[in-house]
Amino acid sequence: MGLRSNFVTLLPLFLLLVSNAKGQSAAGGGVFDVTSFGAKPNGDITGPLLVAWKDACASTTPSKVLIPKGSYGLSQSNLKGPCKSPIELQIEGTLQASPDPKGDGLLLLEYIDQLTVSGTGVLDGQGKAGWEKNDCHLKKICTKLPMTLKLNFITNSIVKDITSLDSKNYHINLLGCKNLTIDHVTITAPENSPNTDGIHVSSSEQINILNTNIATGDDCISVGDTNKQIVISDVTCGPGHGISIGSLGKYSKEKEVVGVTVKKCKLTSTTNGVRIKTWPDSVGTFPATDMHFEDIEMVNVSNPIIIDQEYCPWNQCNRKVPSKIKISKVSFKNIRGTSATAVAVKIVCSQSNPCEEVEVADIDLTYSGSEGPIKSQCANVKPVITGKQNPPICGEPAPIDGPSTD
Ligand SMILES: *[C@@H]1O[C@H](CO)[C@@H](O)[C@H](O)[C@H]1NC(C)=O
Ligand SMILES: *[C@@H]1O[C@H](CO)[C@@H](O)[C@H](O)[C@H]1NC(C)=O
Repeated sequence: MGLRSNFVTLLPLFLLLVSNAKGQSAAGGGVFDVTSFGAKPNGDITGPLLVAWKDACASTTPSKVLIPKGSYGLSQSNLKGPCKSPIELQIEGTLQASPDPKGDGLLLLEYIDQLTVSGTGVLDGQGKAGWEKNDCHLKKICTKLPMTLKLNFITNSIVKDITSLDSKNYHINLLGCKNLTIDHVTITAPENSPNTDGIHVSSSEQINILNTNIATGDDCISVGDTNKQIVISDVTCGPGHGISIGSLGKYSKEKEVVGVTVKKCKLTSTTNGVRIKTWPDSVGTFPATDMHFEDIEMVNVSNPIIIDQEYCPWNQCNRKVPSKIKISKVSFKNIRGTSATAVAVKIVCSQSNPCEEVEVADIDLTYSGSEGPIKSQCANVKPVITGKQNPPICGEPAPIDGPSTD
């Protein structure tokens, strides 16, 4: 076809036609299919996606950018709002990152209200090429690799059904979001891939993470600093490092965490189950409060229940100075299943800021390995204990300077 072969020379005319068509499509419901903006199967989609996004975002009636089935290359894409109307990005195809690590996010969406990201498509981060360069788990100043889906300052929005595969860094990162739901998303990376957190949330509020399956090399979900009203429900996790609040206190400018509920989750062969972790010698002093974990199933989990205020992997901190983060109003309820280590419940709070109002109820964990009977160790905490307690909660003191979890 003449139009296709002369695509480049005819581009200005083409865009003119498209923007004329836009008026009609906006009136009639507005689907902006990237293939009508020059995206070709197996070709790079970055340019067409940006043009389709700009047109859709300018539409005064609700619009949709559609990436149909097929495989496409994608380079760092920055899709910005604010948009004039609600907007949907429907991904049905597979978007492949370049193996060469570049930029800080593969797909960056920012300053958008009423966004829907949907579709059965795959964001393939092509992580293998990056993981060997990733040393951020080893040192403070490190090579930053691109995350796969970065959501910055997104409000009243939903991300559903998509898959994130083999990210080079975090799979999905939320920053400054409010009222955002992640539903029925799949996240997959190998157990040994560094820093590939499934979903990281910071400086956000009213976030729901629901019905999501995560298998990765780092935390399945990490709730960082400065967060409010976070709900995590019906999530499966494993392999990975579990569901964590923290780590908190590593950097200045961090603010409080208030209101995190983790419920109806299943963790399988993870290195931690549900965890709160803060750094000793922390820069910030702020509270972390109102955090609840309930109806959780553990299968072969190494540290099923853990508060670790001595979190200091690879000796990146001064372990002698206790954490200044104040933890309070925490509950662990109805947590059952199997532990892969003997110390199944470990609550190690700060010597200078002991945990307060910790409640532990109906814990039923078993351990069948060779380290002796199942047990629970505690420091600087006096929890209220009710219901079943297997192991006996806080049956022994935690060793001073015990090993850090990862
Ligand atoms: C949250 O966002 C959803 C999806 O856009 C919307 O339907 C709902 O009204 C919002 N809730 C609040 C409290 O703004
Ligand atoms: C238990 O989990 C460990 C990883 O922590 C894994 O290597 C091992 O294969 C798992 N065992 C079973 C029986 O699943």
